[in-house]
Amino acid sequence: MKRKKITVIGAGNVGAACAHWLAVRELGDVVLFDIIDGLPQGKALDLFEASPIDGCDVSIIGTNSYADTANSDIVIITAGLARKPGMSRDDLLEKNSSIISFVTQRAVKYSPDAFLLVVTNPLDAMAYVAKQVSGFPKNRVMGMAGILDAARMRSFIACELQVSVEDVSAFVLGGHGENMVPLARYSTVSGIPLTALMTSEKIDAIIERTRNGGAEIVSFLKTGSAFYAPAAAVGKMVEAILKDKKRIFPVAALLEGEYGLSDCYVGVPVKLGGQGIEEIIELDLLPAELAALEKSHLSVRSLIERLKI
Ligand code: NAI
Ligand code: 2OP
Repeated sequence: MKRKKITVIGAGNVGAACAHWLAVRELGDVVLFDIIDGLPQGKALDLFEASPIDGCDVSIIGTNSYADTANSDIVIITAGLARKPGMSRDDLLEKNSSIISFVTQRAVKYSPDAFLLVVTNPLDAMAYVAKQVSGFPKNRVMGMAGILDAARMRSFIACELQVSVEDVSAFVLGGHGENMVPLARYSTVSGIPLTALMTSEKIDAIIERTRNGGAEIVSFLKTGSAFYAPAAAVGKMVEAILKDKKRIFPVAALLEGEYGLSDCYVGVPVKLGGQGIEEIIELDLLPAELAALEKSHLSVRSLIERLKI
């Protein structure tokens, strides 16, 4: 059986961690691409030299040439600038938008049938740019953020309750920014509603920490942002697509009327399988939850309008 081909554009912290996650699980051959000469080659060689230890039979190459990415099944886009302390994700808008536009044009020329998985911030607006530039159908262009935000919420809940992270599920909708919408009502511990296990004050504190999860890491690192948890979240999305798992995940998807919202990427529950985004699931939201989602949508829309695309 022919192995799948996965290209990771941007061989920085997130890109290299993605390549490692994907290779260790043998999800496919990995091509690591960057504009910096030597960077993807060096990291890919290092990863390949880890493969006998990890016991994974995949090829990992680094390149500065788009020709090497040809016929990829999935293209993950992590190229661009990351936040520094004091910066919001939105401060990256103009610079990262031109990078996403540039790399999308080139990547889709060589891989016209690929799924595009965008990671670069500001996430929802960048996924929108990739959709516009690629012209791909909406099931094949998506953004990663919700699995990461939900994982942060899950880890904080598990820590507070002193239970296994495996038993905690949480849902975070909306854009990947200050207006994200962590949904306590859809968060459970082995099916037990969170609200039965924690005071509302504790839940509010966890929601606040989840919203600031990215900034909390930036404030420690000072020179960049998170990458291990983001890479694991990307890996789960790739696995769901390549193994046609039909997982239900929060994913940044193009909305065309769902939740009463349109012409925007925003995090919603989707069924993720062999066809990419196979379905957008419309939850019954309470008025306050819907208002929060609408506010989040508006903040993403304002970024898209600034780009005039
Ligand atoms: P990084 O600075 O470590 O790596 C970015 C890489 O992109 C660099 O190696 C750079 O040379 C490369 N690059 C820049 N322009 C390029 C181009 N035109 N073609 C190819 N490569 C190019 O940054 P890091 O930490 O890997 O983050 C990458 C992006 O992902 C940032 O925008 C960050 O904010 C975002 N991010 C998003 C997350 C999410 O949940 N959606 C989570 C974590 C990071
Ligand atoms: C994060 O949430 C930087 O968006 C990235 O860590």
